[in-house]
Amino acid sequence: MQPIIVAILGALIRSVAAQDGPPQDFGEAFPSGLAVLNDGQNGRGLKSMPTPSYTSQRWPGGLLPEPCASIGDAYGCPRTDFEVYNVTYSDCPVPKTICRCSNSLIPFDEIAEEFGRIPMAARQMVRTFSSVQTGGCGGFSNGADIWLVGACRGSPSVYFHEVGHMLDCQRGGGRGFWSEMQEWKNVVTQTSDTCVSDNYAKNGWADNFAQTGVMIAYDLNVAPITDYPVSCMSNQISKAREVLLGAYSPDQGRCTQSVKQGRVLCVSDEARAAGLCSESQFKVAAIQESKFKGVEFVDLEAVIQVCTGFKRRRGVPVPFVA
Ligand SMILES: *[C@@H]1O[C@H](CO)[C@@H](O)[C@H](O)[C@H]1NC(C)=O
Repeated sequence: MQPIIVAILGALIRSVAAQDGPPQDFGEAFPSGLAVLNDGQNGRGLKSMPTPSYTSQRWPGGLLPEPCASIGDAYGCPRTDFEVYNVTYSDCPVPKTICRCSNSLIPFDEIAEEFGRIPMAARQMVRTFSSVQTGGCGGFSNGADIWLVGACRGSPSVYFHEVGHMLDCQRGGGRGFWSEMQEWKNVVTQTSDTCVSDNYAKNGWADNFAQTGVMIAYDLNVAPITDYPVSCMSNQISKAREVLLGAYSPDQGRCTQSVKQGRVLCVSDEARAAGLCSESQFKVAAIQESKFKGVEFVDLEAVIQVCTGFKRRRGVPVPFVA
């Protein structure tokens, strides 16, 4: 009996999940998926978005931001196998933290360049950005941290999808994802819209919003998204455009906002014994906010808690928003 019960339960969970999202019978503006926006049309796509120059400093050994440790734990990257960097882009003095597992198939410079394509206003609200290797290409975000899992190369659309989840959670302001509230659901179901972006967008409201966000990134930075046949979702486009305008517009000028750093861990007894976790080392890893005059540091800890659903898979927490 056991397997049958499990099968029925599985089907139940799936149909409930399917109901709580865009209508499954909606059309798809991009039947083959949004990856087409990476190359775009006429030789211009998300890949042609500019990336600022940057400098990087590697953190001292033994120290690891907590969110990087959690994706490492979930995907089999030992905590001591991470390289952690401060990456300072030319458009903002506040460095970003990038954690790369040594098994990642994406070279550090490529991660830094791809991440740099995210317009500054959105990029500065990312707390940590991690890359670990696994099969395929996917990602997660909890509202401040972005985890790329797998060899996602030549796919800025995946980066923008994850940043879309992050901004969606931040807009929820501690009440969960904004896209799961009535306002966005009404835009999808109570207007003349008859389609969503693609099949992936039918996974749920959050994926629906994140995919529309990829289209808005294209629209604001590459070429009008209306160059594609997207009129069947014009209400979603105009609402998402309004929501993401500040975050995704190019040339936002000076950076005035950044996210507060989270906890930094000393990752092994060996590291501690070797003196790699001393107070002075922690100081080298910490962002001293007072050094950045005119930048407001936003604490997202409470907001993130609400958007972080963790499935326990083999005892390790796996973030659930993909
Ligand atoms: C990283 O950047 C912060 C902020 O500028 C700085 O305090 C810290 O010393 C830097 N760490 C390294 C390893 O350069």
